[in-house]
Amino acid sequence: MTATTADVVFDAFEPENHADPYPVYRRMREAGAVVPYLLGDVPVMVIPRYEECAQVLTGAEWGHGYSAGISPFRDTIAAIPGSFVRMDPPEHGRLRGLVNKAFTPRAVASMVPVANRVVDELVDAAVKRGSLDVMDELAVPLAVAMIPGRLLGADVADAERFRRWQLAIARGSDPDALLDEAAIAERGAAARECMGYFAELIARKRVEPGDDLLSELVRVEQEGDMLSEPEVLGLCVLLLVAGMETSINLIGNGMLALLRNPGQLALLRERPELIAPSLDEMLRYDAPTQFTIRVALVDTTVGGHEFRRGDGVMVLTASASRDERVYPDADVFDVTRYAGTRPARRHLGFSLGVHYCVGAPLARIEAEAAFRTLLERAPELRMAADGVEYRPSLIHRGIVSLPVSLA
Ligand code: HEM
Repeated sequence: MTATTADVVFDAFEPENHADPYPVYRRMREAGAVVPYLLGDVPVMVIPRYEECAQVLTGAEWGHGYSAGISPFRDTIAAIPGSFVRMDPPEHGRLRGLVNKAFTPRAVASMVPVANRVVDELVDAAVKRGSLDVMDELAVPLAVAMIPGRLLGADVADAERFRRWQLAIARGSDPDALLDEAAIAERGAAARECMGYFAELIARKRVEPGDDLLSELVRVEQEGDMLSEPEVLGLCVLLLVAGMETSINLIGNGMLALLRNPGQLALLRERPELIAPSLDEMLRYDAPTQFTIRVALVDTTVGGHEFRRGDGVMVLTASASRDERVYPDADVFDVTRYAGTRPARRHLGFSLGVHYCVGAPLARIEAEAAFRTLLERAPELRMAADGVEYRPSLIHRGIVSLPVSLA
């Protein structure tokens, strides 16, 4: 089977499927374990089912292949120095290890009161107004406070710029073949401005370090040859984009699922102990990150298809998380799914293997604080708009706004 003789057409990225790609994903899973797709002029295979996605994400035969010079993808996230999300071991481990320091159990525990305080203030103000845009007035300011604010030690007064930059760079993290010229130009401008901003912040942290991850990275860079300055800068951009866009969209997509399934919303109110496990169901049901890419590092077979070294695949994790072979009633949003004595199979919302999301604990803290406080303080929560509009990104799935009324 080759990309040009495909008997099934992968059209999840067509605009008419953007609001609801899940029926297309289902057709892909029914069509086969691997489905050919032409990404611009690069023939790739799409992997829509759970078992094969997990096999690719955890297998040492698969990686990114940029350092080996074999990647068929044109993808600028890989060009950012320090961008370990697109690196293979052993390079990957050095940078991930440094960032991991920000996520030790003690460091993570210290973030909980910060997130709770920020959410309290935001929800207080919303309750007084009687209305809330879950995106711009809760999820975005919370992510700004936790990621550029807490993790990178930047000034949250620059919130508008962080959001603008991260949106343009997140949009630009789709493979280049899926982007138009304007999106590519906006990504470039945002990356330049963002790099300039963080270069200044790094200079300030050298003289006035704080108790943030960026100060720690600057210290490591100054003390030896573990980390270069361009890498510190690249890590700021990576954390800003990987952390903000995704954690914002978990709150948006999760809240939308609750509002569209009032029985599930009522259940969470009655049994708040379900809030933490319900986050996994939100990540399974409507994932903020829809897919990732990988490259065969050696000749290998997946789903009966023989891949040659250097072949690229799109690992369609959001489809795998709806695979009916693994999840009974996979299209049903069920907040108890991960709460039972035999919880459901791990979803792929945070990926698997060496690239498993390093910021997952922080994402959980943000979302748990947001849902817990909102459910406690807004007993009449309901949607205040007829429909929702999705942002154009394909890797990232997120809505533009989600107005709710609280009274
Ligand atoms: C709900 C929120 C989040 C989701 C859905 C999410 C999703 C993901 C996924 C799917 C990957 C793996 C990509 C791959 O396998 O190619 C990943 C990696 C990563 N995430 Fe997250 N993420 C979230 C929150 C965060 C936060 C809050 C941060 C940091 C502040 C963060 C930082 C990273 C980084 C640095 C990586 C690269 C890890 C590596 O390559 O070893 N993420 N994330």
